[in-house]
Amino acid sequence: MKDETVIVNLKETFAKLFGEGEMRLFFAPGRVNLIGEHIDYNGGHVFPCALTLGTYGVARKRTDRKIRFYSTNLPDTGVIEADLDHLVYQKEDDWANYAKGVVWAYQKHGFQPDAGFDLCVTGTIPNKSGLSSSASLEVLTGTVLMGLYGFDNDQIQNAQFGQLAENQFVGMNCGIMDQFASAMGKEDSAIFLNCATLDYQHVPVVLGDAKLVIVNTNKPHELTNSAYNDRRRECEEALEMLKTKADIKALCELTLERFEAIRDVIRDPVVLKRAKHAVYEEARTVEAVQELNAGRIEAFGQLMGQSHISLRDDFEVSCRELDVLVDEAWKVDGTIGARMTGGGFGGCTVNIVRDDAIDAFMESVGKHYTEQTGLTASFYVVSIGDGAHEVLA
Ligand code: GLA
Repeated sequence: MKDETVIVNLKETFAKLFGEGEMRLFFAPGRVNLIGEHIDYNGGHVFPCALTLGTYGVARKRTDRKIRFYSTNLPDTGVIEADLDHLVYQKEDDWANYAKGVVWAYQKHGFQPDAGFDLCVTGTIPNKSGLSSSASLEVLTGTVLMGLYGFDNDQIQNAQFGQLAENQFVGMNCGIMDQFASAMGKEDSAIFLNCATLDYQHVPVVLGDAKLVIVNTNKPHELTNSAYNDRRRECEEALEMLKTKADIKALCELTLERFEAIRDVIRDPVVLKRAKHAVYEEARTVEAVQELNAGRIEAFGQLMGQSHISLRDDFEVSCRELDVLVDEAWKVDGTIGARMTGGGFGGCTVNIVRDDAIDAFMESVGKHYTEQTGLTASFYVVSIGDGAHEVLA
């Protein structure tokens, strides 16, 4: 198996850099969101699942107060060192800020590691694909801390510490969805998560003679963080105005009817579109899960299609590359669902495609995508895996 080679290499690298001896192996997955986009921070329901792709980490406690990090995916940054008693964001620490931020978040909540540690990681998630490699690194780091120091918090709190690290240490104002999916995933199930209460249910993803296919735009990275934070601000503006007419704490508490009745209180047409997306996406997500539970995959797929249109036209987080992938996907006979997934502006689409159409799907979507954008798309037929855990030999 591919991952076995990855693990052997990771252990070898760890031994070379940090010395032979006891090594503990941990894993935290990336995620793909099936529906419920950009509503985790609006008190809505989301429906992500953990992938079998993710981040592996080999770790060992030290006897001093140092923390050392190394990533086999980013060898150029070398070994990054930090001090357990002085954890601050440093631009030159690059990716390791996510891991440092998690240690900082644990400390902030009274979980004090009694010594430092060495951590060597390797990711099987394509970098910057929007499949949450950063959330998986955060959740991995938390799982390492729980394992090495015997902290008694649970994986839900671990997800919250990951989000805190990202919000307050790294400065990306993300919601809880990605970290929750990485921490709490379950094989062959998606997580129906109420982001207002963190109540959740694992829902079996039974697709019959179809599979999940993720397509990566491979669009060069842009400044997505600032656009993401803008959307959050616009949603907050909308909420403030709607609160003058309704007793609500979050946009997703509004039913469609109530929203339609009071929407005119929002004067700015852009802010109004943002609110409309949130309210309608919430309704779509709840309905989609009912359809999946009832085995109506086609209806689920149609709702995915509507979700994409709303993200494209009302929330405006899609981009030409994602739209081309989605439009071309729908032209293939055998496509049941297609939409952008994650934060947007690039990254991936998620599709449900009948088994006997997958080859034709890859060929046709790939060809037309290159013709229209000059870029080459990557295709992954994915499985849904478990949440973060220690990998025992
Ligand atoms: C990013 C964020 C999540 C969520 C999605 C959009 O992945 O990290 O919290 O808001 O975008 O659904």
